[in-house]
Amino acid sequence: MQQTNSLEEARNYESKYGGRIRPENRPAFHMSPHMGWANDPNGFSVYRGEYHLFYQYYPYETVWGPMHWGHVKSADLVKWEYLPCAMAPDRDFDRAGCWSGSAIETPDREHMLIYTGRMYRTGAEEQEEIVQVQCMAMGDGKDYRKYDGNPVLDAGGLPEGMSAYDFRDPKIWKDEEENCIYMLVASRGPDGSGCLLLYRSDSGLEWTFVTVLEACNGVYGRMWECPDFFTEDGESDMPAAAILVSPQEMELTGEFQNRHGNLVLTGRYDRENHRFIRETVHAVDDGYDFYAAQTLPAPDGRRIMIAWMQGWENARVRQNDNLWFGMMTLPREVSIRRGRLFQQPVRELERYRTCPVRKEGIVVSGSISLDGIQGRCLDMTVRVRQKQEGDCRSFAIRFAADGDHDSCLCYDFMEGLLTFDRSRSGYVDDAMAPRKILLEERPSSLELRFILDRYSAEIFINGGEHVITSVIPTPQTAGDILFEADGKAVMDIEKYEIRIS
Ligand code: FRU
Repeated sequence: MQQTNSLEEARNYESKYGGRIRPENRPAFHMSPHMGWANDPNGFSVYRGEYHLFYQYYPYETVWGPMHWGHVKSADLVKWEYLPCAMAPDRDFDRAGCWSGSAIETPDREHMLIYTGRMYRTGAEEQEEIVQVQCMAMGDGKDYRKYDGNPVLDAGGLPEGMSAYDFRDPKIWKDEEENCIYMLVASRGPDGSGCLLLYRSDSGLEWTFVTVLEACNGVYGRMWECPDFFTEDGESDMPAAAILVSPQEMELTGEFQNRHGNLVLTGRYDRENHRFIRETVHAVDDGYDFYAAQTLPAPDGRRIMIAWMQGWENARVRQNDNLWFGMMTLPREVSIRRGRLFQQPVRELERYRTCPVRKEGIVVSGSISLDGIQGRCLDMTVRVRQKQEGDCRSFAIRFAADGDHDSCLCYDFMEGLLTFDRSRSGYVDDAMAPRKILLEERPSSLELRFILDRYSAEIFINGGEHVITSVIPTPQTAGDILFEADGKAVMDIEKYEIRIS
């Protein structure tokens, strides 16, 4: 049957085939698409007291296709409930795809989505071309109506020299004090590299250009995708602020180890003049699989971030015949500290901890395993130090291990170098080099929190100062965990299974 990409077709397809994926063939507590393909998180927001998350979605196959918006919601950011597909590319202004965007709750309690429509347009040479425009839809948390007057922002609203072909991924937020909505959209400037454009609106229907909030200037990749922006709370006129972006075509240097990278720029925000004063630039995540992060302000004041837990580099590799592809990271609580973005798993995860195992003062020399310490769905914190100063050259944890497979995090105490290697994780097509983090102060003790789910590992280092996120395609039967020391190390462990009932 010829696919029409209508919303009705997508919803029918979901109700017909959605149940085919058995829960044990999905991540236990990471959001995966209802079926088919998912990339970027979209519209991550609180609406009528619940967390809503949309995602770039192609329901019909496990490959990227004409983009729809999939939809889930959650009371606690851990357990997600599937809702019907929210949008399909079915109107003139988005026929070539409903691309990424964001959401807010309006004062009259509607759910406003702003997203990029990929629109066919007849260009100067009478040729059909695709441009990117910003569109709006309103809904009640389940059904969404696209605004008939879309697009709400197109090339006509671009400042001189910016690209209408790369003009996407609007991030909106409310400014309660000014009683308006701001929007940050990515484009490319005259030099061809990424620019983040700030707009302002009273209703979401008309947008006025405010300023270029940040620009790549050819230094960090080229196009900057999926911007996000937030300031820390407080009365200050110059609050601490962060911009998150996902640059394409990054050069692999220093801490930037992914060609489709992820950056956090920290600094101050001069509210009155809408100026972002950049102080630092870092990778948000030091692993292989982290892209297109979005944040929301939670009602209790926390800033929560979620990202696509997949790198574009490996997005063509299929390791199994699962009927879904692409997952989200665990939502993380983030804060700006010492010019870095500190990240912690959302505390709600702790409600799902069971079967505690605690061990203290374990001396590791050579390779050991421990009773009760194994598994693939767990939350495990390991605190490790040298037995005596200079006693231990390196310490490693191998997990998802079975003799043939493992993924390995190793710390070299002498150099302060952490290395994560998934070359034995079972990937058939992964030539990517191990990921490295240099801890310049060469700490003599480390705290490592492992969040393992069936197909992934997220490792939070030293209170979340660094995080390594990785998909691991290792067979589920590989559940051993080994601890190794070259010399003598001492460790304390606290481990829980995670069970989502
Ligand atoms: C980032 C991205 C976005 C775009 C979407 C399309 O992964 O390329 O820039 O809106 O994916 O699916």
